[in-house]
Amino acid sequence: METVEIVDLTPDRLEEALAVFKVSDWDEDSLFYVKAEMQAFLNGDINGYIRAHFIVAIVDNQIIGVAAWAPSMCSFWLYELSWATVLPKWRHRGINSLMLTERLRRIRDHHGSEAFSVMVCTWDNPMYFKIGFVPMEPRERKSPDKKGKCLLVAQFGPAT
Ligand SMILES: CC(C)(COP(=O)(O)OP(=O)(O)OC[C@H]1O[C@@H](n2cnc3c(N)ncnc32)[C@H](O)[C@@H]1OP(=O)(O)O)[C@@H](O)C(=O)NCCC(=O)NCCS
Repeated sequence: METVEIVDLTPDRLEEALAVFKVSDWDEDSLFYVKAEMQAFLNGDINGYIRAHFIVAIVDNQIIGVAAWAPSMCSFWLYELSWATVLPKWRHRGINSLMLTERLRRIRDHHGSEAFSVMVCTWDNPMYFKIGFVPMEPRERKSPDKKGKCLLVAQFGPAT
């Protein structure tokens, strides 16, 4: 497989990153929010404060995937994963898996050695279960607006 590089989103690549979502048919609301979050990441107006951190997967100088991680507003030991998207022709080749590993590494760097938890809203799948994510929907609320997704949470212990 080609060499995949994972780096922070930079301002010169904003439109290219947004195009990955458009090609993937994300709805208008999602496009509005992801653009706003990307702009806040790139130009945040409160010095030192970043909420969603965006990474991009690059092959041959082209963005093939985008994803984000963010500290939750619920608690400083809780983090959110969001906005994972891979160009259709690059899917099923482990790109999101790479971006997941990189986001968890960055959360650990950001958080330090203490324990933390991570949540993600997505479809049940082994990629998350293998590394300790479990479903958190005690009353099994599968509604059409959730498109079959559920909340998954994983706990990561103190760094050894
Ligand atoms: C979901 C998506 C990001 C997966 O990217 P990918 O690079 O193909 O994923 P990987 O090859 O690393 O994944 C390994 C496996 O885990 C599954 N997987 C990966 N990320 C997933 C996610 N966020 N939710 C559910 N399943 C996922 C993949 O389907 C894959 O299994 P398969 O190859 O047997 O289908 C990609 O299909 C995509 O961009 N879809 C459209 C946007 C979207 O739905 N994003 C997720 C919103 S929660």
